[in-house]
Amino acid sequence: MAVILDKSTLSRSLSVNLDHMATLRQVRQTNYPSLTTAAGICEVAGADGVTLHLREDRRHIQDRDLELLRETSLLPITLEMGSTPEMLAIALKTRPHAVTLVPERRQELTTEGGLDAVGLEKQLVPVVSDLKSKGIVVCLFLEPDVDQIQKAHSLGCDSVELHTGAYALDWEQSRTQAIEKHLSRIEIAVKKGTELGLQMNAGHGLHYQNIRPLAALKGLTEFSIGHSIICRSLFVGLEKAVREMADLIREKG
Ligand code: PXP
Repeated sequence: MAVILDKSTLSRSLSVNLDHMATLRQVRQTNYPSLTTAAGICEVAGADGVTLHLREDRRHIQDRDLELLRETSLLPITLEMGSTPEMLAIALKTRPHAVTLVPERRQELTTEGGLDAVGLEKQLVPVVSDLKSKGIVVCLFLEPDVDQIQKAHSLGCDSVELHTGAYALDWEQSRTQAIEKHLSRIEIAVKKGTELGLQMNAGHGLHYQNIRPLAALKGLTEFSIGHSIICRSLFVGLEKAVREMADLIREKG
């Protein structure tokens, strides 16, 4: 009997965001938990990458984390960062596999929305070009908005990560109509991005329940997930927490 493989689910990937493991460390200024050990466990558990957000205020990830992971991790590293001269210099020096450009405000609890690629075009042109000149994959973190996606394409970006924070917030309130609306916007954005040749990713606020409708959506390639995995790892261990999420993403869950 022929086995028919659905390539669209096989090619889906999970990048585990380690920011909140670093948060646990930073609240006590200890040397543990080790992010390099965590990245190794993520790899064994079937993750496809690890993500770090080096924030301007260094509230969780430190420069040394990026350097150490760059030296030791077998998984590709995605660096999330604001498009500032300081961060650009760090990215060009450490050369992660990919950079996701995000908006950043010091006061925010977490990234609160997508980047305004249309409004920030002038600022983004040299940043995208410098990153690409070093062979770094460039991704923009955007709202599921067709104009923004079109701009990512015209800037020469490789991929887009769609901001799923608003979807996740409405999910927590069980707002069915709003959830459907978000999913429909995401679907349209994915279709547009795919037509333009962009790799379409998603992330922010995703957990073991709200990932399911997104994992079923054709065309989404990579999911960037942190908080829910690190929280679940407190109960079941990191390897199981990552494996469960990887399975859900690949529709084995
Ligand atoms: N993607 C981006 C661009 C983010 O800023 C974050 C949070 O750092 C994530 C994904 C991961 O979000 P969460 O921790 O809610 O899974």
